Amino acid sequence: MASFLEIADDEKGYDLDHFCVPRHYENDLEKVIIPHGLIMDRTERLARDIIQDMGGHHIVALCVLKGGYKFFADLLDYIKALNQNSDKSVPLTVDFIRVKSYRNDKSTNSVKVIGGDELSSLSGKNVLIVEDIVETGRTMQTLLSLLSECNPKMVKVVSLLVKRTPRSSGYRPDYIGFEVPDSFLVGYALDYNEYFRDLSHICILNDQAKEKYKV
Ligand code: IMP
Ligand code: MG
Repeated sequence: MASFLEIADDEKGYDLDHFCVPRHYENDLEKVIIPHGLIMDRTERLARDIIQDMGGHHIVALCVLKGGYKFFADLLDYIKALNQNSDKSVPLTVDFIRVKSYRNDKSTNSVKVIGGDELSSLSGKNVLIVEDIVETGRTMQTLLSLLSECNPKMVKVVSLLVKRTPRSSGYRPDYIGFEVPDSFLVGYALDYNEYFRDLSHICILNDQAKEKYKV
């Protein structure tokens, strides 16, 4: 089973006053739960683990937009650093897919994949799917079954976060950054109705903000 860094349910996190948070979000957040620096350090290690397992083959890194874009960019930077500083290196190409399943803070049953016609180009490739967070697992399971129709050679999934929740289908990614409590998280490209992507740290949203940004 994939190893991960566990953020406990009773994790106190960090007071907002100790970090730089955009003024426009100051009243919307309960606490910082994963500071940006810790995200980066964990991502560096994930890059090393991935290259150790998948190295030697050309990798197509598939970014699940929009939430995955920060993690995708930072993970690939670390993989590039490994590639240019060691004897072994792997060619890396990128692809993007857009998936939408959320409304307010609830996962909806319909998982919409936009830009799916590009998937046929993944036939015969070693694909690394890069995702921000797995909650019920439905998004990833839908994506994996779509992808399997294109006959890729290998598919691995890396998710920065996995939520500990009774709503989980039991699906676990191959690589996991952090296992997090069952709260709604924002920041580092994770959004609430499109807000909070412009926040560096991963934070817990307060109830007031859920109302304020509701659609
Ligand atoms: P799943 O299909 O329930 O596993 O949900 C996966 C998708 O829902 C993720 O790719 C996110 O876009 C979104 N999501 C789930 N939990 C959160 C959260 O706490 N904050 C922001 N987005 C979330
Ligand atoms: Mg996502």
